[in-house]
Amino acid sequence: MKVLITGGAGYIGSHCNRYFNEQGIETVVVDDLSDGHEESIVAGKFIKGDFGDEKFMKELFQKEKINAVVHFAAFASVPDSVARPKRYYDNNVSKMLSLLDTIVESGIKYVVFSSSAATFGEPKYVPIDEEHPQEPINPYGTTKLIGEQILKDYEKAYGLHSCSFRYFNASGCSHDALLGEDHNPECHLIPLVIRAALNGKPRLKVFGDDYETKDGSCVRDYVHVEDLAVAHYLGLKYIMEHNVTEQFNLGSNDGFTVLEIIKKFEEISGRKVPYDIIGRRLGDPAVLVASNKKAKDLLGWKLDNSSLEYILKTALAWEQNKRY
Ligand code: UFG
Repeated sequence: MKVLITGGAGYIGSHCNRYFNEQGIETVVVDDLSDGHEESIVAGKFIKGDFGDEKFMKELFQKEKINAVVHFAAFASVPDSVARPKRYYDNNVSKMLSLLDTIVESGIKYVVFSSSAATFGEPKYVPIDEEHPQEPINPYGTTKLIGEQILKDYEKAYGLHSCSFRYFNASGCSHDALLGEDHNPECHLIPLVIRAALNGKPRLKVFGDDYETKDGSCVRDYVHVEDLAVAHYLGLKYIMEHNVTEQFNLGSNDGFTVLEIIKKFEEISGRKVPYDIIGRRLGDPAVLVASNKKAKDLLGWKLDNSSLEYILKTALAWEQNKRY
């Protein structure tokens, strides 16, 4: 069994690539390194390139005899997608279509797709299950929803089976701090909390304390990146065994406010997090929490690493010892 991983040099992709190899699955990573890091590809074969380049991908599929594709490569910043939507429609939709066409032409039948909690928009209820309406409120979420829809249509038309995963807040780093999170610029809460605590600057900006939540700050569902990696393995196995197309929400069923994250980090690290409360960030829903029942029931997914304490400890270990 050989799996092609697009975006395998990125945060979630690199953990997934490592896990697949640990399970005895051969991998080929295709990444253009526009956001990813070559040092994060610690297993499998790496080919630098563009997943939307049909000629390149067709040749690669022929040469490498790929059985399935895990498609991570995408632009993934919500605020950037609002400012520059064309980039997102080009990369996340047009290029995904080119990739899917080469996949179909090459006779590959299975795809695992990185979707997002951003496809749901403002929640109507929590925890958000798979029946929850999908009404994205930013171009990033829209592109991911279109990706899910294309995959549903491609199953009917071409018999391509797939599994779309809507990640909630991916966080933490690998158990041995070999792999971790590195975005440029960094806009995610946990790395910014840690940097503020370690360096005193930049001070953390807390976006809003006037939401209808227990302390007024936003609630998010933090799920450890190594648990996400396992879900990809289980999801691929599931669609290969059952020849189906499914969508799953991947979260912990639990949520924490921004202020709770700060407090918990102060407790476990013994360091103060300097912060200022400023106004709300555009496009932030008050609460995002996933129901993970479907993933548990159908895939047998377990969350072995997603306690908040472990997420923060691994994230801290990474920030103190970053390899890239
Ligand atoms: N936050 C702050 N200060 C910061 C950064 C974040 O207060 O400096 C808050 C945000 O307002 C939010 C929470 O911390 O309430 C988490 O924010 P992140 O930026 O870490 O993550 P998001 O929930 O905004 O985004 C995540 C993924 C996106 C995905 C989205 C789904 O990173 O890719 O969930 O809505 F699209």
